[in-house]
Amino acid sequence: MKGIILAGGTGSRLWPITLGNSKQLIPIYDKPMVYYPLSTLMTAGIRDVLVITAPEHADLFRLLLGDGSTWGMRIEFAVQPSPDGLAQAFIIGEQFIAGDSVALALGDNIFHGAGFETALPVIDDFTGGHIFAYPVLDPERYGVIEFDKDGTALSIEEKPATPKSRYAIPGVYFYDSTVVDVAKNITPSARGELEITSVSEHFMNQGTLKVSVLDAGTMWFDTGTVDSMMDAAEYVRAIEHRTGAKIACPEEIAWRQGWINDAQLAALAKPLEKSGYGSYLLRLLER
Ligand code: DAU
Repeated sequence: MKGIILAGGTGSRLWPITLGNSKQLIPIYDKPMVYYPLSTLMTAGIRDVLVITAPEHADLFRLLLGDGSTWGMRIEFAVQPSPDGLAQAFIIGEQFIAGDSVALALGDNIFHGAGFETALPVIDDFTGGHIFAYPVLDPERYGVIEFDKDGTALSIEEKPATPKSRYAIPGVYFYDSTVVDVAKNITPSARGELEITSVSEHFMNQGTLKVSVLDAGTMWFDTGTVDSMMDAAEYVRAIEHRTGAKIACPEEIAWRQGWINDAQLAALAKPLEKSGYGSYLLRLLER
């Protein structure tokens, strides 16, 4: 399975912060925002990742992430000329996807918790679609999914004025290789975007959409506004201080997945010692 991180857009809800920077490079406590969706994909076992950015930020992402080889991964880059919708990621990524199944992680979505890890799909022989549902107080801000009394998905709507349920659809989506054609055939919404909800709706209508409801065992943040960014940063800080374990540390995940060995982790740690991040990685080896 391939992975795509969508890290473009204008970040206009964060202006002026994002007038001179990409939203997904802004820190969430002790690491750049993009480390979180990258860690989500890595935790699902995905080593081949395409990062889609706005043209003006492409070089910054290359500088930060490189080609992924030091993390035992393969990271490629593509640009989205203008933010025409989330589903465009599959069209831009067609050659990269190359007939495999694919997971899309939104660049500003953060997941944490054992509940999430156990809900992730098994990626071998993956077919259909697999998305998540998460109960929130303000579903009108998100894609919303409605279930019948047996838990079967009935409807999916993008930011409905009157939500039919309190279940938001968080920003990580797993689809089989047919998603490229599905994305090519959806019509833009009233706001002119190729909506990801239209893609999931297609799989739902086809009867091949699996929906995992995430509960309090998972923390999910969409860090699209200053306040939600602060909420996420405070959460990460509190957990990391209390437990001594980092959330969304790609070097650690690569090492735990067996993609890099002890010596490679130590080599990654050395240049990062001054900030404390490298010392954390070295402590993993001592334990
Ligand atoms: O956070 C989950 C929600 O994300 C879902 O529930 C919604 O169904 C989905 O449409 C999306 O809603 P948002 O309003 O949060 O999407 P936003 O425009 O903020 O875009 C999400 C990320 O994708 C953000 O990091 C910017 C990036 N993006 C967005 C668009 C529209 C792109 O890179 N290209 C784009 O064309």
